[in-house]
Amino acid sequence: MMGRSSKNTNRSTRTGGRCAATLSLLLSVVTCLAQMPWHVEGTTTVGFYATSCPNAETIIQQEVQSRFNSDPTISAGLLRMFFHDCFVQGCDASILIDPTPGNTPEKQSGPNLTLRGFDLIDAIKSKLEAECPGIVSCADIIAVATRDAVALAGGPSYQVKTGRFDGRRSKSSDANILPSPDSDVDQASSAFASQGLSLNDLVVLLGAHTTGFAHCGFFSDRLYNFQGTGQPDPTMNPPLVSRLKGICPNPASGSSTDPTVSLDQGTRDTFDSSYYSQLQKHNGILRIDQVLQDDPRTSPLVSRFTDAGAFFTSFISSITTLGDLNVKSAQTGEVRLDCRRINPITHTPPTTRPTSPPITPQPPVSGVPPVTPRKPPSPPPLRKGPRIPLPLPPFRPHFPPMRRGERRHHRPHHTIRIPFDPFP
Ligand code: HEM
Repeated sequence: MMGRSSKNTNRSTRTGGRCAATLSLLLSVVTCLAQMPWHVEGTTTVGFYATSCPNAETIIQQEVQSRFNSDPTISAGLLRMFFHDCFVQGCDASILIDPTPGNTPEKQSGPNLTLRGFDLIDAIKSKLEAECPGIVSCADIIAVATRDAVALAGGPSYQVKTGRFDGRRSKSSDANILPSPDSDVDQASSAFASQGLSLNDLVVLLGAHTTGFAHCGFFSDRLYNFQGTGQPDPTMNPPLVSRLKGICPNPASGSSTDPTVSLDQGTRDTFDSSYYSQLQKHNGILRIDQVLQDDPRTSPLVSRFTDAGAFFTSFISSITTLGDLNVKSAQTGEVRLDCRRINPITHTPPTTRPTSPPITPQPPVSGVPPVTPRKPPSPPPLRKGPRIPLPLPPFRPHFPPMRRGERRHHRPHHTIRIPFDPFP
């Protein structure tokens, strides 16, 4: 957004001083927007890979379908991963980064320890790298895979804008902004507002709890010792309390087991509006689920979303908003080559060079003096030099010049860094 705005600004100044006041106002607005945590910086568009990697979305869809066939709960895993990625530092695949000696990444923070589906993202990425190396970002893979997973689970089909770049930062401490399952509406909505998400987005997106599980550790206080009372949470349906007590150990017992239960006590693996009907029956599992029914600001929304049509329409809108959070651009991100690692930006010269093929001596031809093959000059000895940045390859467009009015959606090739660091 900033890049495009400053280009616009340049255009305005060319029109002369008459626009100075307007320009100043515009700059203030742009600066203000840029400081908001949720502003969309990169540009995304539906069909971004249509030219640069036409099969990208089909490959993702096939991989998700194949995983879903053996494990329908993968839809929940991907949905939660998408939320946890976008909410922290924007939708930039920072959630996928593995720990390194100097860095504890987001995936090692408390709320992220039970995320799942990383192996599926790896499988998709390796297929895409084989098809079009260095083109499809990991952030887009999560977004498209989530879209496909929702549809496979029975949820709405929707279009996903692509063109996100991957972030180069992933810190465990950044994930502290994820709301706690014990939040009330005030706490959760202010966490959402800090990312530019509304109260409506909160209620709609929590509808993702129509799929998947929760570990007992996230809610067992509601069964045994709600807010230090020594009693169950009075807003939980008593038969549900009894049933869950049969599954979840009392934390006071010191048990080390942490079983899981369905977040939606109606239909676990189906993306439908049953979550909201269950809240009306006081069958919400997490406190944040049940408070939606009990808070007068959100209970009318719960009621509205018991209608699947209304829920699906709003879900498409809110998940699109979520997917737009803090999108990285070519200037602030990269296309990661391995979703678990930030691309290396340094390069050491090779310690060996490929040698020329040996010269085979030819039989002498009569009358012609034999030619003594010349030894190829030995290469100068290589020293392990300092790690120097690899110069960016020259930009070579793969396409004929654009015609006026034509739009293309491919990544500028000069943003792709070296394919791998062969000499780490
Ligand atoms: C206030 C906001 C939220 C809180 C406090 C919250 C909290 C939680 C917790 C504690 C779990 C259980 C995780 C486990 O035991 O492994 C969970 C599961 C889940 N959450 Fe949320 N969540 C929130 C919003 C969302 C949103 C916005 C989405 C998606 C758009 C989402 C999708 C899911 C899904 C699908 C699961 C099931 C995961 C699985 O089966 O692996 N959640 N959530």
